[in-house]
Amino acid sequence: MTHKLLPCVAISCFIILGWMSAAHGVILEKTVVVPLPESAIVGNGSSCGGEGASPDLLASFGNGHSLGLLFSSTGRIYRVANLSLTYNLTDNTTFPESSSKAVMVLTTNNSQISAQLNTTYRCMSSSVVNLGGPGVTVTFFNIHMQAYMPSANLSTNETICAADVPSTTVVPTTTTTPISPTTPVTPTNPERGNYSILNSNGTTCLLARMGLQLNVTYFSKSQNKTVVAIMNMQPNRTSFSGSCESTTTTLLLTGDLANLTFVFTLNTTTSKYQLSTVNMSAFWEDMTAQFQVSNSSLQYMQGTLGRSYMCSVEEVLPVSTNFSLNTFELQVQPFDVRNNEFGPADVCRMQKDNMLVPIIVGACLAGLVLIVLIAYLIGRKRSHAGYQTI
Ligand SMILES: *[C@@H]1O[C@H](CO)[C@@H](O)[C@H](O)[C@H]1NC(C)=O
Ligand SMILES: *[C@@H]1O[C@H](CO)[C@@H](O)[C@H](O)[C@H]1NC(C)=O
Ligand SMILES: *[C@@H]1O[C@H](CO)[C@@H](O)[C@H](O)[C@H]1NC(C)=O
Ligand SMILES: *[C@@H]1O[C@H](CO)[C@@H](O)[C@H](O)[C@H]1NC(C)=O
Ligand SMILES: *[C@@H]1O[C@H](CO)[C@@H](O)[C@H](O)[C@H]1NC(C)=O
Ligand SMILES: *[C@@H]1O[C@H](CO)[C@@H](O)[C@H](O)[C@H]1NC(C)=O
Ligand SMILES: *[C@@H]1O[C@H](CO)[C@@H](O)[C@H](O)[C@H]1NC(C)=O
Ligand SMILES: *[C@@H]1O[C@H](CO)[C@@H](O)[C@H](O)[C@H]1NC(C)=O
Ligand SMILES: *[C@@H]1O[C@H](CO)[C@@H](O)[C@H](O)[C@H]1NC(C)=O
Ligand SMILES: *[C@@H]1O[C@H](CO)[C@@H](O)[C@H](O)[C@H]1NC(C)=O
Ligand SMILES: *[C@@H]1O[C@H](CO)[C@@H](O)[C@H](O)[C@H]1NC(C)=O
Ligand SMILES: *[C@@H]1O[C@H](CO)[C@@H](O)[C@H](O)[C@H]1NC(C)=O
Repeated sequence: MTHKLLPCVAISCFIILGWMSAAHGVILEKTVVVPLPESAIVGNGSSCGGEGASPDLLASFGNGHSLGLLFSSTGRIYRVANLSLTYNLTDNTTFPESSSKAVMVLTTNNSQISAQLNTTYRCMSSSVVNLGGPGVTVTFFNIHMQAYMPSANLSTNETICAADVPSTTVVPTTTTTPISPTTPVTPTNPERGNYSILNSNGTTCLLARMGLQLNVTYFSKSQNKTVVAIMNMQPNRTSFSGSCESTTTTLLLTGDLANLTFVFTLNTTTSKYQLSTVNMSAFWEDMTAQFQVSNSSLQYMQGTLGRSYMCSVEEVLPVSTNFSLNTFELQVQPFDVRNNEFGPADVCRMQKDNMLVPIIVGACLAGLVLIVLIAYLIGRKRSHAGYQTI
């Protein structure tokens, strides 16, 4: 008898490269953000367990990198007993100028991922697992997964991780209290920021120009009730990074108010792209807990390959019940940017917001998106001016 393990892990992934460290003299430390790429495969060593052995999933990617999830079960719950990461510092595409050529293996038994048996583990929020070692973390978000599956499909019964469960203090207030009358009036339109992402060969693959406004519904500590806050992202206090693959482009914005991740996907059959994932996190003084939302079944900013998507009026992009993103004077081209310029524009239709049909990708949909953050050392002969985020 065998258990089926993760029958179809739809790994919607992407490469994000962000060099974040500054240079100091001879030894530099660089940090690289490596999303599990689309090309990851179920590697040797994976097994569905049974007969005393535990299910083990090994996702292999790139030149000798892999992520392993070893499960265990008590008969009532199952958990990720052992999370391991293997990365190959010889791979100089991922780790340029690494002074070490070692293959690193890090492991932890403290992943905090557990669920009731016969249920699907669901966690939209980001969870960061620290693997120790030189600043190595694995960030999961938007996970649907199940081990010890009694049937071929993911169970419709879900175990929802603690981070996704709304705070209990919010529940009574959201249902009974109207939105705060002291909600600040809508501020002025946000300033427009310019963002661009380069390919590994130095050519631009994403261009974006937009003003971003956050509409966050949260429980306010100071007012002791649920409030709506409208906040503008300040471009000059927002850093950006990201990466491009053939059918996925990622833009990460790190601001003082919030962090935003945008994932654009390209449908090569139709040559259309869209914004399909938005991940947002914030932790303000006035919040009782970290605010975190993620939605990966969005269909916003739909444009044609080779062209840009433009919307000069305000667009409201609902991401979750308690967060929407308002865009202003937007122009974006996430694929196939030529000569560092926007292509001809596909102009938005305001009605698009009503077409929010979730994409159901067959009966067994499992999203496991993860980002591995690794800091490593590189040696340098002479000192350099500080590297900044690309
Ligand atoms: C898996 O094992 C087979 C047989 O041992 C080998 O041919 C293959 O190259 C291995 N694949 C990987 C990805 O290591
Ligand atoms: C590590 O990367 C190098 C260069 O990319 C490659 O030649 C080597 O086979 C890789 N090592 C493993 C264990 O895959
Ligand atoms: C899980 O499902 C299997 C097969 O349907 C059943 O034998 C087992 O008792 C279930 N376990 C729990 C804890 O519900
Ligand atoms: C976790 O997995 C690694 C690599 O497979 C192994 O070396 C380590 O002993 C395992 N740890 C535990 C606690 O099972
Ligand atoms: C990677 O290593 C190979 C072989 O050592 C070398 O030819 C190549 O230039 C290196 N690439 C980068 C980007 O450093
Ligand atoms: C979901 O849970 C309920 C109650 O525990 C159980 O009756 C039902 O069979 C479960 N459904 C599936 C698909 O496991
Ligand atoms: C850079 O890489 C991209 C994709 O990897 C490719 O489409 C483009 O042609 C390359 N440009 C140059 C100048 O090599
Ligand atoms: C903010 O979101 C709330 C709740 O979804 C909505 O009622 C309100 O109109 C939004 N405000 C703005 C300025 O977008
Ligand atoms: C917050 O509001 C609840 C219900 O309105 C009330 O019971 C509680 O005492 C209030 N807490 C503070 C610190 O004011
Ligand atoms: C950010 O932009 C605002 C408005 O343009 C400007 O007043 C402020 O000086 C800028 N701050 C920095 C640090 O550049
Ligand atoms: C691309 O679009 C076609 C037509 O809308 C659709 O059938 C197909 O599933 C899409 N492919 C992907 C990878 O989303
Ligand atoms: C935003 O990202 C930065 C850098 O990764 C991190 O230090 C910070 O804690 C994040 N903030 C939130 C609210 O998630």
